[in-house]
Amino acid sequence: MEAIFLVGGKGTRLHPLTLETPKPMLKVAGVPFIAHQIGYAKEHGVTRIVMAISYKNEQFLHYLGDGKGFGVEIIHAIEDQPLGTAGAIRNASRFLESDPQQPIAILNGDILSAHDMREQVALHNQMRADATLHLIRVADARPYGSVPTDAAGKIEDFVEKSDNPPTDFINAGCYIFTRSIIDQIPAGKVVSIERETFPALLAAGNPLWAYKSSSYWIDIGTPAAFLKASRDLVQGQFHSPVFATSTTMNYVHPDAHIGVNVQIDAGSSVGASQIGGDVLVEQSIIGDDVVVGSGAHICASIIGDGVQIGDGAHLRGVVIAGVGVSVPPNSRQIGEI
Ligand code: GTP
Repeated sequence: MEAIFLVGGKGTRLHPLTLETPKPMLKVAGVPFIAHQIGYAKEHGVTRIVMAISYKNEQFLHYLGDGKGFGVEIIHAIEDQPLGTAGAIRNASRFLESDPQQPIAILNGDILSAHDMREQVALHNQMRADATLHLIRVADARPYGSVPTDAAGKIEDFVEKSDNPPTDFINAGCYIFTRSIIDQIPAGKVVSIERETFPALLAAGNPLWAYKSSSYWIDIGTPAAFLKASRDLVQGQFHSPVFATSTTMNYVHPDAHIGVNVQIDAGSSVGASQIGGDVLVEQSIIGDDVVVGSGAHICASIIGDGVQIGDGAHLRGVVIAGVGVSVPPNSRQIGEI
């Protein structure tokens, strides 16, 4: 099966991490997030992926190449200006090779999901749907657009964020489209899939179905969610085909230099960095080429590549990024990530 990955967004909610690195290229458990997603797609029958890229697209071209290193074929569809989620799908569709009636998987590039995409495709085929959306049940749907369905699972509406959502099921960012339906998206324009394409298809009477699940799902778009996704992956609460959980329940890059009496805990991830003695790293992500001075405490924080943390600094709930950025010795920075 062919897939389109939507990976061209600017990831503004993850600033400053995404000022230098696009969201899907941020490392989670030692590899760029996109590698976990390619592994997931491959496990679910995807053999050819069109990457819809725009923001900092050279990093994707360099890392992914033609996909051989990942065991899939990868083609890159570059948008000079980001075209929005549906505009990007339309732009990428010129590289698809499937027949008009065949299903195409479309994945947001910032989702970690354990749902069975093969079942989603089977439902799509069985219902002869034009598009089948993965819907996930959340505890509180108020911050999201919600998607009510009839008893059989046929989508009835797309409701914007509201204080009183009609259902707990929200769009989980993984769609199966019948190839020919993509041609109904206007070409060369900025188009949003949630706000424009889905409501328009529904209004025109196209059958849209829901594949509902309550399996593991997270959108890594905010610092808190990014930290949680990394921890869940490192601790094995989410299985990624490209990461083997270690018995320590933490991840430490093989080239990291770790000083004496260092404690790395609670699903932390440490890249190829230098960690001084008597350091505590708890529930945190430390990127590559970071220097952490001795006696520092880093809790519930994300430290980007190339940052320097002075001796004895205490950091909790903060994101620090930017090559050459340094935190003074013995300083305290407390935030609510
Ligand atoms: P924020 O700026 O923090 O909202 O993040 P974002 O830019 O990633 O936007 P959002 O989370 O809404 O995007 C969902 C998915 O669609 C992500 O995987 C984005 O990379 C992708 N995406 C969003 N806009 C575009 C676009 O214009 N072109 C392409 N190719 N992908 C996009």
